[in-house]
Amino acid sequence: MADLRYTEEGRIKVIRGCIVLVEGFKSCINGQVIKFGYGTKGIILGFSEDEAQVLIIRQQEELKTGDKAIATMEPFETPVGENFIGRIVNPLGETMDGLGPLKHDAMYPIFIQAPSILDRKELSKTLETGIKVVDCMIPVGFGQRELILGDKMTGKTTICTDTIINQKNTGVLCIYCGIGKSHSALGKVVQLFLDHDCFKYTMIVAALASGPPGQQYLAPYVACSIAEYFLYKGKNVFIAFDDFTKHAWSYREISLLLGRAPGRDSYPGDIFYLHSKMIERACYLEDAKGGGSITFFPIVETLEGDLTGYVQSNLVSMTDGQIYLSAPLFGEGQKPAVDLGLSVSRVGSKVQWKAIKKLAGPLRLEFLQYREVMRVSKLKTSGQSEEMQAQLKGGEILTDILKQDKDSPARAEAQVIILYAYTKKYLHELTLEEVKDFQNKIFDYVNKRHPDTMVKLREKRDYDDEMAKVFDIVIKEYIEEVKKVRPIEEDDEVEGGSANVGVDTLDKATTKKK
Ligand SMILES: Nc1ncnc2c1ncn2[C@@H]1O[C@H](COP(=O)(O)OP(=O)(O)OP(=O)(O)O)[C@@H](O)[C@H]1O
Ligand SMILES: [Mg+2]
Repeated sequence: MADLRYTEEGRIKVIRGCIVLVEGFKSCINGQVIKFGYGTKGIILGFSEDEAQVLIIRQQEELKTGDKAIATMEPFETPVGENFIGRIVNPLGETMDGLGPLKHDAMYPIFIQAPSILDRKELSKTLETGIKVVDCMIPVGFGQRELILGDKMTGKTTICTDTIINQKNTGVLCIYCGIGKSHSALGKVVQLFLDHDCFKYTMIVAALASGPPGQQYLAPYVACSIAEYFLYKGKNVFIAFDDFTKHAWSYREISLLLGRAPGRDSYPGDIFYLHSKMIERACYLEDAKGGGSITFFPIVETLEGDLTGYVQSNLVSMTDGQIYLSAPLFGEGQKPAVDLGLSVSRVGSKVQWKAIKKLAGPLRLEFLQYREVMRVSKLKTSGQSEEMQAQLKGGEILTDILKQDKDSPARAEAQVIILYAYTKKYLHELTLEEVKDFQNKIFDYVNKRHPDTMVKLREKRDYDDEMAKVFDIVIKEYIEEVKKVRPIEEDDEVEGGSANVGVDTLDKATTKKK
């Protein structure tokens, strides 16, 4: 027997860009799908007394006033399923990767309530990003919402893609949600994922800048719904939204076309509600509910480092911390350009590896003090105390530790050993070049000699005295080896004494005179 379907017919009254006003519907609801002609689709965003406001999300043909519009009382739903892993889809669930159509397992509504507080539990696991500065100083837990903000070209996308690369073999599924990206920018991300074999556990939901604003508005909701399918199967999911500024722009465009009253910066008043409702969908569920999690990295762009912009400050207040990327630091070559003074993780430190917490605790202050000393020493070139010199040397090494190339995540075990070597001042014996080498090689070096210690470290996420002894011995061994192969610096002494050369000559001359 055929399905009974309730349909209603209306007529297009006004067309305003991506917004169509339709009259004639008697009983329609928000978020409901409206169909026009041959495959053009829209969803209802609001009503006035005698019109429904419809946002076009798929345009197949030119619409005209007077055209028929059909309402089916179906809410907008997105296809979801296992087959989405490794695929690139648009917010309508249509594939964009040329690999043919996708078979879905279920349909999920996209505008749904976030899980209630009773279904959630406290964060208890760390999401290892593999980015040293983040894992050590601004740790992120499963289920956390960590905002990434910074000016143009400061490495925001790279933080997310590096995190995705580091999820290989961890069981974490990743979704990269591109909103308002250009074709080439998305292409770069796709190529990066292909190069690092990320598509085994990653999917992309993309609404291109050239597409209708309606799709850009829907993209994050669709990404959330796809993630929720996996969440209720007990999986951990990571979503990077790149970026929310474009989402806010598309919503502003839509709202202005709808004739809603503009507020600050012409954004509609409900943009805060819109974002906070979506951000709430990140969660860490109780074991009874499957124990899965969704972690969010929403990206937002700042203008000239202004954190007080409307959308930016809204998002700062909704998330559990922010990673602020500074353009001046990026310019100096400090990459990732995380500004430790303005970045914070409000919940992640609870779930950080104990070993890293212990070692990295004092480093933030040390780094900020070093930056301050650097600033002062730029003005004052002579007469630095020994203490200051030691601080400068330590700071230099620390700066180097916090630098990291893109697409080269560091294992948490390696981070522990590096921090241990730094804290115990072993690294102070090496040159900066050797410190770089140390960071790249030390994990394999220790793992070869004491694989059981490394396994124990990952299990316990902490080290005891016995393990510390192993670290001491192996690090010392490594440093001895490095020292052995060091080229002999003949003019070492001259260099070392150079500061006093002038003074000595002067001294000799004056004593002679006397
Ligand atoms: N840690 C790093 N080491 C070296 N290069 C980096 C690092 N992080 C980012 N970059 C480089 O800096 C450039 C900008 O990075 P990215 O695209 O991530 O910035 P963005 O803030 O997302 O830019 P946009 O504002 O255009 O979205 C890229 O060419 C990237 O390769
Ligand atoms: Mg980017």
